[in-house]
Amino acid sequence: MKHTPERPGVLSIAGKNVLYTGAAGGLGLATTLHFLRAGARVVAIDNDRAKVEALRESVKAEGLEGLTMCEADLSDLAGLRRRLDGAAGKIGGLDVVINNAAIYPSKNFEDYTIEEFQAVQRVNVDAGIVCVQAALPGMREKGWGRIINIASVTAYGGWAKLAPYVQSKGALIGLTRAWAREFGVYGVTVNAVAPGAFPTDAEKIHPDPEGYTRFVLDHQAVKRRGDPDDIAHALMFLASEEAGFITGQVLNVDGGWVMH
Ligand SMILES: NC(=O)c1ccc[n+]([C@@H]2O[C@H](COP(=O)([O-])OP(=O)(O)OC[C@H]3O[C@@H](n4cnc5c(N)ncnc54)[C@H](O)[C@@H]3O)[C@@H](O)[C@H]2O)c1
Repeated sequence: MKHTPERPGVLSIAGKNVLYTGAAGGLGLATTLHFLRAGARVVAIDNDRAKVEALRESVKAEGLEGLTMCEADLSDLAGLRRRLDGAAGKIGGLDVVINNAAIYPSKNFEDYTIEEFQAVQRVNVDAGIVCVQAALPGMREKGWGRIINIASVTAYGGWAKLAPYVQSKGALIGLTRAWAREFGVYGVTVNAVAPGAFPTDAEKIHPDPEGYTRFVLDHQAVKRRGDPDDIAHALMFLASEEAGFITGQVLNVDGGWVMH
């Protein structure tokens, strides 16, 4: 079946139900606002009370509608599933899942316990699996869905001291391809977005901020720092009707840091 956009030149997002994990974070807040401005409903999951309040305030300040805030800990996988089933039932299913939340502890590989590795996989990967399992039956029924996993350029080049995090991003890229292959027949596309370096909390793990900015700009082809809006635009496109022929891809949004 061919899908034709209702308004050529305008991404078709309005009316879609978007599940967004880590929605109150540095990249999540800007992206959530973009989706709401475009007329989508967003089920936003985050467990950082201060950031959640800031998201609520931003939404209120703009007079936006359509936000369902869900203050939940993604590492409680059974609780997450219950809440998602409840939320999806209320709003008529989830059309778009964006697995964005992540934790990123940093230390030498030999100092991590296996439990610490598993805790990172639980939030960064397993919670995403639960989100997709909750959303997929409704997507199959509608014959339409978009799943987007947030990866990272670190999955290509590696990064010292971030082994569990880099492992989790590699897993998300693998799942992107496996799910894309399996779900295409249902009308569901699956892609990943790999951010380069964005000045959010995730960057505070670097001890020398100015040196890090110089390092980033040296590596990027585009000589400015990334802005959360840059990620939001890529996500809006991949979530839209218009991106229906793109699946199994990893889109690097990194100012040309990584090219291949
Ligand atoms: N900022 C960057 O430069 C950069 C680079 C590469 C990849 N990324 C990826 O982009 C995504 C967003 O990163 P960000 O920069 O916005 O980071 P961030 O830390 O600002 O946002 C992550 C959000 O996830 C939430 N979260 C973490 N654990 C949770 C849990 N157990 N339950 C519920 N919520 C939880 C946090 O509260 C936070 O709001 C992540 O997947 C990250 O790996 C970011």
